[in-house]
Amino acid sequence: MPVTVVVGLQWGDEGKGKIVDSLARTSDVVVRFQGGANAGHTVVVGEQEVIFHLLPAGVLHEGVENVIANGLVVDPATLLGEIDALSKLGLSLSGKLFLSDRAHIVFPYHRWQDKATESRAGEAQLGTTRRGIGPAYSDKVIRHTAFRFCDLFDESSFRKRLERVVSEKNRWQEFFGDGESILAKELADEYLDYFGRLKEYICDTSSLLRDRDSSGKRILLEGAHGTLLDVDFGTYPYVTSSNCTALGALQGSGLPLKTMTESIGVLKAYSTRVGSGPFPTELEGKDGEWLRERGREYGATTGRPRRCGWFDAVAARYAIELNGIDRIALTKLDVLDQVDPIRVCTSYTSEGSEVSSFPAEARVLEKVEPGYVDVAGWTKATPDVTRFEDLPPQAQGYVRRLEDQTGAPVSLISVGRKRDQIIHR
Ligand code: GDP
Ligand code: IMO
Ligand code: MG
Repeated sequence: MPVTVVVGLQWGDEGKGKIVDSLARTSDVVVRFQGGANAGHTVVVGEQEVIFHLLPAGVLHEGVENVIANGLVVDPATLLGEIDALSKLGLSLSGKLFLSDRAHIVFPYHRWQDKATESRAGEAQLGTTRRGIGPAYSDKVIRHTAFRFCDLFDESSFRKRLERVVSEKNRWQEFFGDGESILAKELADEYLDYFGRLKEYICDTSSLLRDRDSSGKRILLEGAHGTLLDVDFGTYPYVTSSNCTALGALQGSGLPLKTMTESIGVLKAYSTRVGSGPFPTELEGKDGEWLRERGREYGATTGRPRRCGWFDAVAARYAIELNGIDRIALTKLDVLDQVDPIRVCTSYTSEGSEVSSFPAEARVLEKVEPGYVDVAGWTKATPDVTRFEDLPPQAQGYVRRLEDQTGAPVSLISVGRKRDQIIHR
């Protein structure tokens, strides 16, 4: 049965939440496989806006199972907050949510470390979400100082080890941070309390997913962030700390390679980025501000204004090839309804020659000259359009131009925030 992976192809906030919610209607299981509460995935149902940081964006559908897999770093307070918020909407996740016993746990000292490291970096800061993501993944790799949900089953060994780790983190904080310290016993009590509430969801999710796959269930893997924020293939070091690509979906979920059947890439009709780092097609000044207001481009996690710019087909081609994308979900086409002409970056030039592959070095990407083609705009409203044929001819032309430039077919087009504002092609 199909295992479909949905990934962002830009710098995040492509509209993955909306697309995953839409595809979840015909899925049995939806899985988050990497990242943490740095993600902000928005789903709009009627007049209600729901933003998911850790829960998979399939949770609003009855009969869908939801998995937070091994590849995540989970802040339990945030997760419980999301579970409680859904419960206030009358939605219970009992028996519908599964949390990996191998997922790593985010502690308050990870947020300290994130904040202090960023502050100390001054102008070189990455502009992280300060959710403790980098430090939590560092601890995962360092191993001595990491905790997974399975570690909480043995209370006395958890308390003992946490005491040692907290004393180390307090020393770190004294030296680099603002001197705030933590009492190990209080922290252990707090986390054992979270554990008590989360215990019913904790299990071996990799085994559960293999089981669901063998019994013919349709599995949807939901990427967070975006390919250009991938720790290996993104615009390093201006990236997040996990593998946000389809390549990371197997590792982060524990599904075998042979199960994967399709990969869908989400692309916004223009580009945005939050935080620092190169952004070749960025629009500075009035044009960028106009796009930000029109597209409501403010961070779903931190509320920060997103940097905005033209569609970058060079970066999109790179992301599509890397992920092995089969088809594209194009979002926010309606945001361009009043723009004429629309620019699309089709090449980069560096020191007078065309750049043939996506640069590894941020400082090279920072300096490339984008080459643009101008595409005719349509200056007509599209949010009510439900069939591709009914889009203005220039809007159809823009979609076809993006297909030509990126080499992948566009099969879904989103023309508004709401669930029904989607064109299946
Ligand atoms: P994600 O992180 O990729 O899930 O994206 P975000 O939720 O952070 O940001 C996407 C924003 O665009 C959200 O506010 C969505 O409600 C909104 N959105 C999604 N698709 C569309 C669309 O087609 N048109 C418009 N106007 N807004 C959209
Ligand atoms: P979704 O899932 C946009 C960016 C941060 C920063 C960099 C590192 O909503 O698409 P981190 O806190 O991860 O260490 O920050 O990554 N970033 C995102 N930008 N959307 C996201 O998530 C992001 N998650 C992280 O702004 O530049
Ligand atoms: Mg987002």
